[in-house]
Amino acid sequence: MPSTSLEYKLKAIYFVEKMDIYLVFGILVFFCLLEILNGHLKRSKRSSSDWIQEAGIFLVLASLIKPLIFLIVMTIGHILFADLQGIIKHWSLGISLLFFLLIDDLLQYWYHRSAHEYPFLWKLHRPHHQAEEMGFFVSYRNAGLYYLMMPNIWWMALVTFIGGGFAVAIGLIFKQVVIISSHSTVKWDKPLYKITWLRPFISIIERIFITPAFHHGHHGKSQIDGISEPNGNYGNMLSIWDQLFGSAYFTRQFPDTLGLLNDPKEHWTATLFYPFIKSKDSSSELSPGFKKQPTLLDEPITVNLEKDTNYLWCQCGKSKNQPFCDGSHHGSKFKPLFFTVNKKGTRKVCNCKRSKTKPFCDNTHLSI
Ligand code: FES
Repeated sequence: MPSTSLEYKLKAIYFVEKMDIYLVFGILVFFCLLEILNGHLKRSKRSSSDWIQEAGIFLVLASLIKPLIFLIVMTIGHILFADLQGIIKHWSLGISLLFFLLIDDLLQYWYHRSAHEYPFLWKLHRPHHQAEEMGFFVSYRNAGLYYLMMPNIWWMALVTFIGGGFAVAIGLIFKQVVIISSHSTVKWDKPLYKITWLRPFISIIERIFITPAFHHGHHGKSQIDGISEPNGNYGNMLSIWDQLFGSAYFTRQFPDTLGLLNDPKEHWTATLFYPFIKSKDSSSELSPGFKKQPTLLDEPITVNLEKDTNYLWCQCGKSKNQPFCDGSHHGSKFKPLFFTVNKKGTRKVCNCKRSKTKPFCDNTHLSI
C-alpha cells in the first residue's frame, strides 16, 4: 500500500536529502583534511571569488535545488503515477544499486559531454573549467541552472519515488568518493604508476573507475602540453563510458596548467547565476548578445614551425589566433588537431579548414 502523499514526500526528501548532505559533507571534510595535511590549502592561490563561487553553489545545490527537484518529482509522481510508488522496494540492494548507479553515471556522462559540445550548456559548465587549481570543492563549481537541469538529480528523485531510496543513499557514497577524489589534489594514483608491481592493478582500476590523472587531464588548459585532453575524459565515476563512446584519453601524468585559455574571469555573480545575471565584460561569453565570429580565410597562413614543438591547429574556424587554437572551440563538437614537425621551417598552414592534408594547405581553398 502506498503511504500517504505528504508522508511519503517528506520521508523521501528528508531521507535522501539528509543522507546526501551528510555523506557529501563527510567526504568533503575527509578530503579537506587530506588536502590540509598535504599542504595544498597553504599553497593555494585561490581568490575569494573562487571560494565564494564554490561554497555558494554547494549551499544553493544542497538547500534549494535538490529539495526542489525532489518535491517536484514526488508531487508529479503522486498525482500522475501513484501506482509506481515503491514498485522496486522489494529488489535486493545489489540490484537496485546497480540499476541506480549505471543509469546515473551514463546520464551524467552524456550531460557532461553535452555541456562541452553545446554553447548554452557550456556557459553553465564553464565555471568548472575556470578553476586554475584542482581541489575537493571544484567538484561543485557550476552555474546553478546546470544543476537544476542535471538529469542525475531528477533520476535520484525518481528512483527514490519508486522505492530505491536506500540504494540512492548508498550509491551516493561510491559516486561521491570517486568524483571528489578525482578532483582532489590528493593524487592517490600517482605512486601506483611508479611502482612496477602495482602497475597491473592501476591498469585495471583506470579502465573501470575515473582516476585523478584521468580527470586532471580533462581540466588541463590545453592539449598542447601533450598530457591534457579538455575535449575528452567526460566520465564521472566510471571510465567505461569514455572508452565505449570514443572520448577516453589515458594519461599517467598530471598537467601543470589548469583552467581556460583567454579566460576573462567574470564576476562570480555571472558565473553562478548565468543566464539570469550576465557579465558586463563584452569579451566574455556570458555577456549579452556575445557571439563567436568565424575567422576563416580562403587562403593559407605561412608560419615558422620549430622542430619537436607541440602545436594545436584550429579546426573550428573561430580562433582569434589562426591558424592555431585559442580555446574558442569550447561549447562545440570541434577540437584542435595536435601536431609537431620533424624539421624546422616555414610551412603554409590551412585556414579554410578543408584541406585533406591538414593541418597543411593542399590548395583546396582554390576550388572553393
Ligand atoms: S579555437 Fe580551438 S579548434 Fe578552433
